[in-house]
Amino acid sequence: MTELELSGITVRFGGLTALQDVGLAVGPHQVHGVIGPNGAGKTTLFNVACGFVQPDSGHVVRRGERVERLRPRDLPGLGMARTLQGLGLFDRMTVLDNVMVGADHHARSGFLGSLLALPRAGADERALRDRALRVLDDLGVASYADRFPPSLPYPIRKRVALARALVSEPDLLLLDEPASGLSAGEMDELGDLVRALTARMSVLLVEHHMDLVMRVCDEITVLDFGKVIAHGTPDEVRNDPAVLAAYLGEDVH
Ligand SMILES: Nc1ncnc2c1ncn2[C@@H]1O[C@H](COP(=O)(O)OP(=O)(O)O)[C@@H](O)[C@H]1O
Ligand SMILES: [Mg+2]
Repeated sequence: MTELELSGITVRFGGLTALQDVGLAVGPHQVHGVIGPNGAGKTTLFNVACGFVQPDSGHVVRRGERVERLRPRDLPGLGMARTLQGLGLFDRMTVLDNVMVGADHHARSGFLGSLLALPRAGADERALRDRALRVLDDLGVASYADRFPPSLPYPIRKRVALARALVSEPDLLLLDEPASGLSAGEMDELGDLVRALTARMSVLLVEHHMDLVMRVCDEITVLDFGKVIAHGTPDEVRNDPAVLAAYLGEDVH
């Protein structure tokens, strides 16, 4: 069974068709990449997968079950988590608190508790803190737990944002342009990290950087002007003339 299926997705913004009849399927323990030139529709597709954008037609299927009107708040309940192209970290919260926020639905008194201003149950709070620290440690950034995001280098903040997505223990992770702003070396590390995550989850990786995508993905869907122009393994996609043309321009052979 697939972890996630997007099928027949069409999205229009006024007169512009950002996606037209786009489909893809993410298998268990797979990294599925979505690539394409700027404006191809990658972020729009990502936004459909995490419920920010409702498609004009088509649907989202999670483990064989169609999800009606997916909303971002539905993701934890569906075992899904996402990171955003912007980091979305809270500047005035410590790294640890930022990560704990990502798992709030795990704590029994979480959302309702904070609405009613009840103190969080002590045991829940401790378990959550331990889990958040473990995830930060897994990502090699536990030493920054008490720092505030604005004081940290960008690559560290990116890891914190990833930790926040992972702390809810998703089995499907959605990543939008995780490599943006990283150096080549940091990108290699990110690639290793994403590969390691497949032991525990599937990943939908929306990314502009071809080399990262080629290195970590099992399967790739290529978009151009809102349509799927190629789909297959990295080797299949790498040599596809339509992909070369879309990325490199017609006069390159
Ligand atoms: N909210 C929006 N309103 C209007 N047009 C949009 C909106 N979001 C994206 N677009 C347009 O849809 C197309 C696809 O954009 P996007 O999904 O961001 O592409 P990519 O992430 O591949 O660069 C672009 O032409 C973009 O200008
Ligand atoms: Mg984008």
